[in-house]
Amino acid sequence: MPLLQDHIAVVTGAGSGIGRAIAAGYAREGARVVVLDINEKAAAETAREIRDAGGKAESFALDVTKREACVAMARQVADKVGPVSILVNNAGIARRNGMLGAAEAVVQDWEDIIAINLTGVFNVTHAFLEPLRGAKGRIVNIGSIQSFLHLRTPSSPAYTASKHGVLGFTRALAAELGKDGVRVNAIGPGFIETPLNEKVRASNPELAKTFIAHTPLGRAGQPADIVGPAVFLASDLSAYVSGTIVMVDGGYRTV
Ligand code: NAI
Repeated sequence: MPLLQDHIAVVTGAGSGIGRAIAAGYAREGARVVVLDINEKAAAETAREIRDAGGKAESFALDVTKREACVAMARQVADKVGPVSILVNNAGIARRNGMLGAAEAVVQDWEDIIAINLTGVFNVTHAFLEPLRGAKGRIVNIGSIQSFLHLRTPSSPAYTASKHGVLGFTRALAAELGKDGVRVNAIGPGFIETPLNEKVRASNPELAKTFIAHTPLGRAGQPADIVGPAVFLASDLSAYVSGTIVMVDGGYRTV
């Protein structure tokens, strides 16, 4: 039997990259997938690809920074699709700017990154909490190698703080919701080739080389590399796993 049969899975930021791959992977394992993205067209394309491959998916536009929209979306999904048992908080942005740039830009980075990467995770989780508790659900949050500190590759204080926050939120939620049978875990991707870092890869190939030089497996990751761990954490295979982060980074963090 497929690993996620009879589950309804919500994936945020599923119009691209890692989220799109996870949505498709969950559908292949029998889940009915709710594809959410701020980019309505991209979300619709993911859902169409899943249906074309024989899976079950619908898509809706959602900006995770809009708290009321998240609550309304949870109601809409409950009415139109059914009770959600898996939530993947994947939507995110990255900017590699330090603290010493032009003040306005530094402040803007902080506000945008925290709003999407951290408050967005809170907003969507809070909105879908009721069905997730009812279903003894599973929450998978997308952290990063920046859920820990790495000086060898540049990040931004805002991005690093947001991904530390995602890990802290994951642990606190696992502690609080465990008694309801809800499991909460994170995935920490390493350097994964997606549209998120397309421009940086083109303009700064040295940065990609730096990442890969420090990665024991000696290559960049692909969105498909995240799918197995994401299926594992959403399925009964991980029935006694909660409050942890599974690094999917080619070994980056170990060296
Ligand atoms: P991506 O840029 O390919 O996809 C991100 C998706 O999130 C896009 O479809 C975008 O429209 C959506 N999104 C952005 N803001 C949104 C909002 N306010 N509301 C709803 N959706 C929104 O990026 P990628 O690489 O697939 O990243 C996915 C997650 O993985 C992010 O949380 C990112 O921080 C994380 N990550 C990525 C790594 C990488 O190397 N690509 C490494 C570590 C973590």
